[in-house]
Amino acid sequence: MRDAEPKAIRLKDYEAPALQIRQVHLAFEIQPGETTVTSTLQIERVRPGETDLRLDGQELELLDVTLDGESLSANAYQLDEDSLTLFDLPDRCEIRIVNRIHPERNTALEGLYKSGNLYCTQCEAEGFRKITYYQDRPDVLAKFSTTITAGSAYPVLLSNGNLVDQQTLNDGRRQVSWEDPYPKPSYLFALVAGDLARLEDSFTTMSGREVKLVIYSEPHNIDQCDYAMDVLKRAMRWDEQRFGREYDLDIFMIVAVEDFNMGAMENKGLNIFNTSCVLASKDTATDPSYMRVEGVVAHEYFHNWSGNRVTCRDWFQLSLKEGFTVFRDAEFSSDMNSRTVKRIEDVNFLRSVQFAEDAGPLSHPIRPDSYIEISNFYTPTVYEKGAEVIGMLHTILGEEVFRRGSDLYFERHDGEAATTDDFLAAMADASGRDLSVFQRWYVQAGTPVLAVESRWQEGTFTLILTQSCPPTPGQTEKLPVHMPVAMGLLDADGKLLDPATLQLSSDSEYDIRGDSIVLHLATASTSLRVEGLATEPVVSLLRGYSAPVRLKYPRSPEILKFLAIHDSDGFAAWDALQTLLVDEIGSYSGRRRVSETLIELFAALLEQAQAAVISGSDEDRFMLAARLSLPQESYLFEQFEQVDVDALCAGRDALQQALAAELREQWLALYQAARSVDAYQPDAAGMSRRALCNLALGFVAVALEGGELVELLEAHYSQADNLTDRRAALVAALHSTSLDSAVSRRLLQRFLDAFRNEALVVNQWFSVQAGSPTCSAQDIQTLAAHDAFDGRNPNKIRALYSAFAQANLRNFHAADGSGYQLIADTVLALNSSNPQMASALAKPLTRWRRFSGMRPGLMRQALERLAAADDLSPDVYEVVIKGLAD
Ligand code: BES
Ligand code: ZN
Repeated sequence: MRDAEPKAIRLKDYEAPALQIRQVHLAFEIQPGETTVTSTLQIERVRPGETDLRLDGQELELLDVTLDGESLSANAYQLDEDSLTLFDLPDRCEIRIVNRIHPERNTALEGLYKSGNLYCTQCEAEGFRKITYYQDRPDVLAKFSTTITAGSAYPVLLSNGNLVDQQTLNDGRRQVSWEDPYPKPSYLFALVAGDLARLEDSFTTMSGREVKLVIYSEPHNIDQCDYAMDVLKRAMRWDEQRFGREYDLDIFMIVAVEDFNMGAMENKGLNIFNTSCVLASKDTATDPSYMRVEGVVAHEYFHNWSGNRVTCRDWFQLSLKEGFTVFRDAEFSSDMNSRTVKRIEDVNFLRSVQFAEDAGPLSHPIRPDSYIEISNFYTPTVYEKGAEVIGMLHTILGEEVFRRGSDLYFERHDGEAATTDDFLAAMADASGRDLSVFQRWYVQAGTPVLAVESRWQEGTFTLILTQSCPPTPGQTEKLPVHMPVAMGLLDADGKLLDPATLQLSSDSEYDIRGDSIVLHLATASTSLRVEGLATEPVVSLLRGYSAPVRLKYPRSPEILKFLAIHDSDGFAAWDALQTLLVDEIGSYSGRRRVSETLIELFAALLEQAQAAVISGSDEDRFMLAARLSLPQESYLFEQFEQVDVDALCAGRDALQQALAAELREQWLALYQAARSVDAYQPDAAGMSRRALCNLALGFVAVALEGGELVELLEAHYSQADNLTDRRAALVAALHSTSLDSAVSRRLLQRFLDAFRNEALVVNQWFSVQAGSPTCSAQDIQTLAAHDAFDGRNPNKIRALYSAFAQANLRNFHAADGSGYQLIADTVLALNSSNPQMASALAKPLTRWRRFSGMRPGLMRQALERLAAADDLSPDVYEVVIKGLAD
């Protein structure tokens, strides 16, 4: 256990500083082994209050500090482990600080660090304090200028804003100066120094200004940057058209780095990206990776307004920028591709990952009220539930009013640090709506349950809707929230009744939105009556997943099948089928055959899929691939209060076996029909066809055996001209129970031999193995010892250990506890070198309460072993303590 317990930071203790840094000049002298930082700060009193200035600083070596040009006497300041406090400052002054840092030794990848031969920074949330002493908090906005001096091995020297000067010094070193005219908090600072190649382009903004666009990467990757550049231009145009947001500097830069804890970072004018979220080529990125690049490039660009021009007052407001920006990037992707498919993917993620968090000891509101380590709060709750909440506002207000609210928010708070309440106030003012009940989404944790009952009596149909929310840590009583419930009524032929013609009544407010009714449930319970109907309608409920809730609406398999076939809302049709599949798997008892209902449904969908390959739209193909996909294990687990790992995995396997065997010819026919004749294109036509083809391959690999299977898999692999198909062959081989393991080993070896030099492909090589049902904890250790593995690279750690703990649930939850031990060992190994990665990896162990049998005890043992370790980082400490407190 640690010596001093880290303290919780609380929202209610927030206080704005009286003295603030208004301007800062940073001079970096980069030398082998050490970097010297000279920081010149202009300080101003902005409100009455104290005269001492506390600057954050960690792992810094202070060399000098002066106040208005005078050296400070020893009693004029105080230095400790994580701060430098200057006493008795005047209302205005200049402070100059010189300190030394060692980027080469920085393994936590926070602050200034080296990734290979490249210097780069990551400052969000509290990394700037590892560069120099500063008010490292988002409500201190200052104008930054930066001078970087480095040897000729680092010809590219970048920072935020516009380039103002560059020269070669007499000794051959290079010196470059940048100036960012927009005041910003320190977490948006960035610096890059290295020998980088560049891809250049330009964009003309809506007011006619030309912006230079540059993507930098290591020279050998520069031919993988075109896709990201194309996305960037589309995102810039889209933000102008959809949100009226124009870019504001002369240059926008993206740098790709190999070692990065997160996906990407929105530093002003100088986004820094994990290579996995920016590079793409047919041989190094799968179709989902292309989609990820699209989403992340857009997301970070959109932060220029939602995050940078208007930033967060404090880190409790994180969802202000992240939830809103995830909403914005999801809208972008929906406009670029299929809206329904994007919605299904997002709901899949929300239900498997965010619901899991919300049902465990780490549950927190999207605006948390306390934290120990802020890095632990970049969570699916703050991000994805946060985006759902914005999406509900959009549904409640409608596009036009929502846009007015967003304009008002940006106008009111431009250049400021704002709160989620400010955002809601702008929305309320623009719409004239009372959002006080809606505001509870921000402060209450837990996933609300929406229970629905229906009655049919003499031509009157009544729906009764009731909401509740289970208790979460520290919150036992929950109040009702305002949730928009979108629905439609289908007649006996499956035709949607036009809501405008219905005789509706309710004690709650409702709107007609297109072909749906949107009922505003803002109390514990309400009802909706429909009169004058000839026959009982079937309800299409929570269309488009209009609220992030668990729906409890018992319906017969016949009704679900009816909806799966007829519902005109693509999401709701998918959802009905998923519910059938979950019910089928959940009721598996060891040998029962799969239900006729499902076989018939799948047979019908397979027929449609074959037709869609030949003459359907891209959207048809994508949708059919989504509907024919079985729920992932992580999704399944979240549908049950008590998780019986063995029963659910066996049930899923049995269902897959049965569907594969019963419909073997249909899967084969679909597979053959969807095989490509054209060269790879990362477009909707190609992606949707591959989605169907590789889905069919998965079932075919389960249905076939022997030489026939070997031949098919080897042909699929050999004929592939892209990573998506090669990976699909490997996955199918590794998931087959009949295939001789020598065959999969051969394919894996071919794959590694061909792509050994492509880090992103090697990551895939690790993750397909780590996620395969035959890969045990022992096998993970063997893979970790492989030459191609690098235990310090976050992408490799994710490809191996996170893939195992998150996508290989049957082995992570192995009955002997070996999966838990492996993860605990790895958390301990990473705890001091990279606390953020360590803590992310520890999180799955905290879900122990959900499992049945011996597993809770074994998971707790692993947590207790972590708790007993010396020198636990605050990151891991917080997760472990909360995990054990449950
Ligand atoms: N601001 C974050 C990156 C970040 C998160 C930095 C946590 C430091 C700590 C960035 O905008 C972000 O949200 N990135 C996501 C991807 C995005 C598409 C949701 C990421 O990195 O995973
Ligand atoms: Zn973000």
